[in-house]
Amino acid sequence: MKAGFIGAGKVGFTLGKYLAEGGITVTGYYSRTARSAREAAAFTGTRYYDKLAGIVKDSDTLFVTVPDGAIGEVWKGICNLPIKNKNICHCSGSISSTAFFNACEKGAYRYSIHPLYAISDKYNSYKTLKNAYFAVEGSPENLQEIINCLRSLGNKVTSIDPQKKAQYHCAAVMVSNHTVALADIGAELLTECGFSRRDAELALGPLIAGNALKIAEAGPEQALTGPVERADAGTVKSHMRILSGETKEIYRLLSKRLIAVAKRKHPERDYRDAEKELEK
Ligand SMILES: NC(=O)c1ccc[n+]([C@@H]2O[C@H](COP(=O)([O-])OP(=O)(O)OC[C@H]3O[C@@H](n4cnc5c(N)ncnc54)[C@H](OP(=O)(O)O)[C@@H]3O)[C@@H](O)[C@H]2O)c1
Repeated sequence: MKAGFIGAGKVGFTLGKYLAEGGITVTGYYSRTARSAREAAAFTGTRYYDKLAGIVKDSDTLFVTVPDGAIGEVWKGICNLPIKNKNICHCSGSISSTAFFNACEKGAYRYSIHPLYAISDKYNSYKTLKNAYFAVEGSPENLQEIINCLRSLGNKVTSIDPQKKAQYHCAAVMVSNHTVALADIGAELLTECGFSRRDAELALGPLIAGNALKIAEAGPEQALTGPVERADAGTVKSHMRILSGETKEIYRLLSKRLIAVAKRKHPERDYRDAEKELEK
């Protein structure tokens, strides 16, 4: 594989560096601004391209790592270049490979290759990308080769139905991005208890990480702890009393889901009092 990156942002930097470190040839970077592409090329020890045609010519696999809303525009620029037999890939979680709708007419193969991972640091995320699952779908011709390539780097890979991408991405957003929202609420509540914001964030880290590890190891039921699991209606009541507005609504809805998990774990336990407190 000779992989070229169009779009030198967080994913472009990270995936390019990861592939290069894994012994895969990375040709280089083209981006909207020369500065980003030069920086990514320097970071990965690859080439900077000032023209789309140059990177397309030198690469057999193109990763379009631009924001989802710009994939169509970039495709318009690529699709009239000589792309016969090339793999055209994007990394969007929610859009399928049909974003490259007329790839087949052009003799090219189209793929969506999504790392199920929060890539937040363009200089460091590559170091832990081996832990990420990838969800891939696209043209049958080179799909297995792409899957094998990712597996050879140590990643788990799942084929996904292109029609299910919105649902798949929704799952990722709820677990990853919504945890950020919950952490923000937690930090706010802790600062009202006298923690500095920084201390609050540091204190939340082990709570979140410990849960994440236990969920991965044994599933949500085994990871569940806390007053809802114990059917402790008094504590649930005290929480509902100090909360208000949107935060109270979030607590209520998530606790209802927790009760469902708790009932699976302890079918013999009576959760009716806790349920009543959540309805008040
Ligand atoms: N970040 C994540 O956690 C994550 C995880 C999985 C998948 N993804 C997917 O990966 C893709 C890229 O996301 P990202 O987080 O890397 O975004 P990002 O950090 O905002 O980077 C996007 C890059 O695309 C470049 N760009 C924008 N419009 C362009 C155009 N018309 N032509 C060429 N380059 C253009 C920008 O370049 P300049 O810097 O030159 O302006 C920017 O650096 C998206 O499809 C996203 O859904 C993201």
